[in-house]
Amino acid sequence: MSFAVNPPPAVRSFPFSRSPIARTPRVSLVVRSGAGVSIATAAALPILTKLQNDCATPLPVLRHVADAMATDMRDGLAVDGGSDLKMILSYVDYLPTGNERGLFYALDLGGTNFRVLRTQLGGKDDRVIATEFEQVSIPQDLMFGTSEELFDFIASALAKFVKKEGGKFVLPNGRSRETGFTFSFPVKQTSIDSGILIKWTKGFAVSGTPGKDVVACLNEAMKRQGLDMRVSALVNDTVATLAGARYWDNDVMVAVILGTGTNACYVESVDAIPKLNGQKTTSGRTIVNTEWGAFSNGLPLTEFDREMDAESINPGEQLFEKTISGMYLGEIVRRILVRMAESGSLFGKRVPERLRTPFTLGTPNISSIQQDTSEDLEAVGTILYEATGVDSNLDARKMVVEVCDTIAKRGGRLAGAGIVGILQKMEEDSKGIVFGKRTVVAMDGGLYEHHPQYRRYLKDAVTELLGPELSSNVVIEHSKDGSGIGAALLAATNSIYEH
Ligand code: BGC
Repeated sequence: MSFAVNPPPAVRSFPFSRSPIARTPRVSLVVRSGAGVSIATAAALPILTKLQNDCATPLPVLRHVADAMATDMRDGLAVDGGSDLKMILSYVDYLPTGNERGLFYALDLGGTNFRVLRTQLGGKDDRVIATEFEQVSIPQDLMFGTSEELFDFIASALAKFVKKEGGKFVLPNGRSRETGFTFSFPVKQTSIDSGILIKWTKGFAVSGTPGKDVVACLNEAMKRQGLDMRVSALVNDTVATLAGARYWDNDVMVAVILGTGTNACYVESVDAIPKLNGQKTTSGRTIVNTEWGAFSNGLPLTEFDREMDAESINPGEQLFEKTISGMYLGEIVRRILVRMAESGSLFGKRVPERLRTPFTLGTPNISSIQQDTSEDLEAVGTILYEATGVDSNLDARKMVVEVCDTIAKRGGRLAGAGIVGILQKMEEDSKGIVFGKRTVVAMDGGLYEHHPQYRRYLKDAVTELLGPELSSNVVIEHSKDGSGIGAALLAATNSIYEH
């Protein structure tokens, strides 16, 4: 994929509506002799067979991924740079309790959309009194522009939002507004309210930010806007999701994002973090942001993954993310379809130019394709035509459904193995902490929310790995938009004012 030439949308909005879980039709590819297109399908068949072999995730592969995830977590906790996993300390040592009160803002930057939110918290009895949010999409050119341009855009949208404050939202006299800043990229936290951007992911290539404190960048931009607002917590989206989910449920121990990008965080004991060099927190715990998107050990990769990676703006990086997350699944499928079209004339003699264009097939398209259970796969044909310009007959559509299912299945199952790796590591350190009681994994992100087959593959893998008894204690739960409110809650927990 060539981002420079053809920048992909970094965040897809997964616009299709939620549909009931439909089993992907197990299509049988019938090859009729004599018919031209069927011969084309037959020519694509060896590509499919090889793909399915290369993407296979039988139990031993899942087991290997879960074990390697646990080992990489330990190595990353031992020393910075100890493994693919950065195991970033979040400085979030306390999670919301429900006692938080007051007006708090949240700013959420994780892709091409960014959100501003305000919430009025009323303590244990009244909880969330009111919430308002706005979503602003970031123009594509800002994703490739300068740091100042990006942060000015964000600060100006925030300033406009603040001007509309009123009604149930009350700021006590003499106080500055406080916000949580959810910044969903790898950041080396230096305190709860500061952190250095390590690198951009998800197709962002803004110059001048890596190596800088992103809170300082935001503060400078807010100053230019004349906005008096204090960032009291800088958090990753996984950490915000964990906080948001924990506000309602004390058993939440892990949070996972499966959207454009992917990542996971969890509650860790400070004694299990050698790189803290004996530093303690008063709670004895802290949230660790694994940055698991960079995991790479033993992944079942194909030539299509390797080509996509080689042409990406970050070759060799974020391999787990490139295998399981929403930004990439559609693109992997597109590359496979191009190969099938070229070597087997799957879609007729000519390969439409649009099919050759990186990122024309989005992961939401893959999910929609998998929801079509009709005999003639008409919706599949429409999606293919609208997204990529290809004309397809029934045999070709069946082939496409198989390809989509193969890639979604690999992604979902590997994500499930990653979750088991984290739970396993926590359980090994402290017997019974996870499997001996109800443990909740809070999930968010468009891919998880809108792709029922992916979700089912993920859960199946967790059950296969843990067995029915242990997995019955593990609740994998969607925490919708927990990250916005979570960041505001963490702003409250870390407020400079009494609360
Ligand atoms: C980023 C993470 C983020 C994840 C989900 C990844 O690309 O590196 O920091 O949590 O996407 O948004």
